[in-house]
Amino acid sequence: KKTMKDIDVKGKRVFVRVDFNVPMEEGHITDDTRIRAALPTIQYLVDAGAKVILASHLGRPKGEVNEDMRLTAVGTRLAELIERPVTKLDESIGETVEAAIAEMQEGKIVLLENVRFHKGEEKNDTELAQSFAKLADVYVNDAFGAAHRAHATTEGIAKFIPAVSGLLMQKELDVLGKALSNPERPFTAIIGGAKVKDKIGVIENLLEKVDHLIIGGGLSFTFIKALGHDIGNSLLEEDKIELAKSFIDKAKEKGVQLHMPIDTVVANEFSKDAATQVVDVDAIPAGWMGLDIGPKTAANYADVIAKSKLIIWNGPMGVFEMEKFANGTKTVADAMAATEGYTVIGGGDSAAAVEKFEVASKMNHISTGGGASLELMEGKELPGILALNDK
Ligand code: 3PG
Repeated sequence: KKTMKDIDVKGKRVFVRVDFNVPMEEGHITDDTRIRAALPTIQYLVDAGAKVILASHLGRPKGEVNEDMRLTAVGTRLAELIERPVTKLDESIGETVEAAIAEMQEGKIVLLENVRFHKGEEKNDTELAQSFAKLADVYVNDAFGAAHRAHATTEGIAKFIPAVSGLLMQKELDVLGKALSNPERPFTAIIGGAKVKDKIGVIENLLEKVDHLIIGGGLSFTFIKALGHDIGNSLLEEDKIELAKSFIDKAKEKGVQLHMPIDTVVANEFSKDAATQVVDVDAIPAGWMGLDIGPKTAANYADVIAKSKLIIWNGPMGVFEMEKFANGTKTVADAMAATEGYTVIGGGDSAAAVEKFEVASKMNHISTGGGASLELMEGKELPGILALNDK
């Protein structure tokens, strides 16, 4: 597929879908990673003399104007980072937008208002997609984080104007695509997080590809239960016990080394001030709940990470937001930082964890997509990528 660099953009109006869905608190951006990640694409287009029209969603305003979800602060931050003026508009389609774009000179940047203020965005409404398409000569999708959404600005618009990928999109696909199709070995995946339910597709797909599969987080207790142990008050998905068993069997069958917790930090309640103890997984006391992997488990996982050539990490090992249950996730984060293997962080909570433990700069790749990278790891094709039609 063609990327932005394969086409001539000089003097053209380029509609760039970015993912500026950044966390905000009281009108302030608390993490601008996604804005920074889009800079190479924007800078390239500016230098190439394009008229750069940026579009993004922010939050979930459900098709209505929401004063707390305007992109104004994002525009200000972008202008600081790129060291150029950014004209932030208060609409994303219509006459004022068209007039502003008509006045643009080469190398100028316009940021449209939150595209989800229109109901048609998430419905992938054809008319709305056409209104966006009408604003530009070319469409660039650089919103990897939203590539799993078939919305008007991520999918629909590509039916009406030539559509190519941006540099961030390309980089995400190169790293994750290569990891999944042609991995260096030993290849290790670390899957954590709260629920088996959310990781079924990922575990299924990765069991076909990896040498080591490490399991942690809340979801590991359904596996521990599947092995026949009592798990006290730990998180259990009763209806996923059979599935967990089948994963254990499939790992054996495929020669995948499955690593599960052997010890756990249990607490008497779900609270940062809970009483805690470390126990083996076959000795979880009744009434207690496991909220982190134990130190023996963490050390094992660190060993596997150290000897792997490629490691993908999705989902924390415990409730790392609470000090008493942060150690497992921290040990994994530190092992990721120290390994000579190539490290990929699959967005979301694991990205937050490497930030928190101050090892983000030591990772080879931190995906800007949570849901999107998860779906790629499930082996799915993403609508935002399928739509890029300019071959
Ligand atoms: C994300 O943050 O994962 C993307 O920006 C997509 O947002 P959404 O889940 O609201 O579609």
